[in-house]
Amino acid sequence: GVRRLTAPDIRARKGGAPVVGLTAYHAPGARLADEHCDFLLVGDSLGMVLYGYDTTVPVTLDMMIAHGAAVVRASRHALVVVDLPFGSYEDGPQAAFRAASRVMKETGCGAVKLEGGCHMAATVGYLVERGIPVMGHVGLTPQSINSFGSFRPRGRDDVESEAIAADAEAVVSAGAFALVVEAVPVRVAAALTRAMPVPTIGIGASVVCDGQILVAEDMLGLMPRVPKFVRRYAEVGAIASDAIARYARDVRNRAFPGVENTYAEPGFEAPDIAP
Ligand code: KIV
Ligand code: NA
Repeated sequence: GVRRLTAPDIRARKGGAPVVGLTAYHAPGARLADEHCDFLLVGDSLGMVLYGYDTTVPVTLDMMIAHGAAVVRASRHALVVVDLPFGSYEDGPQAAFRAASRVMKETGCGAVKLEGGCHMAATVGYLVERGIPVMGHVGLTPQSINSFGSFRPRGRDDVESEAIAADAEAVVSAGAFALVVEAVPVRVAAALTRAMPVPTIGIGASVVCDGQILVAEDMLGLMPRVPKFVRRYAEVGAIASDAIARYARDVRNRAFPGVENTYAEPGFEAPDIAP
C-alpha cells in the first residue's frame, strides 16, 4: 500500500521539488486534497472559515482534535499537520506537550504546528525531543492579532524583518522540521529560504519559498473576500449556489424527488398532487 509521508520526508525536500500544502478541515476536503498534496494542514483558520469567528483566538483544542481526526481518517498519502490553538501551548513546554500529545493520540496526525519565534524555541525543542514533530510559523501569526492590531503583512521594515529572521532561526535551531512564513515581502522570504536548513512554506511569501500553502476555501472560491496572496483556482461557491437554487426551484415545483429517487411499492400508485 501507500506509505504516508512523514515529517522527515517533508524536511528532506529542502532544495528539491516544491512542497505542496493545503488546509483540510473535514473528510471531503481531506479526500480531495490528499490526492495532490504533500501535507494537509488542519489549520486553526477553521475558526474563521467554518465557524464564522472574526479571529482564530476562540478555537479550542477539542475543535482541533475533532477536525484533525476526520482529516486523518479521510486521507492516506499526505502528512497531516494539526495546528495547536491559541491558549493550548503558550504557558510553557509542559502545557504544550500535554496539548500536543492529546492531538497526536486522538487524531493520529504526524505533526503539530505552533505560532511564534524566539519565545517558543524552548517549547519547540521540548516537543521535538519527546517525539512530536513541529512545524514552525513566523511572520504574520494570526493568533497574535490582538497584539498586532491587524492582519497586515509583517517584516516591511528592518526592525520587523530582523525580528522575523531571529524567530525563524530560533524555532528551526530548536528542531522544527519546516517553517510556515506568512505575509512577508519577497526580500524577507528569500533571506529565510536561503538561511534555513528546512523547507520554508510560504503563504503570502512569494514564489521563492520551498513550498506553498493556502486555505482550501480561499483558493476554491468559497470565501467572499480573500487576501491579495490568494489565487482563486475555481468559483466553487458560485457553482454550489447555482445547484442550491435549482434544488429549491425543483422542490417548489414538485420536480424533486423524481421516481428514480423514490422507493417503489408494488401496487401503490402515487396520488396526483397539484403543483
Ligand atoms: O490556520 C491556517 O490555515 C494556517 C495556514 C494558513 C498557514 O496556519
Ligand atoms: Na493557523
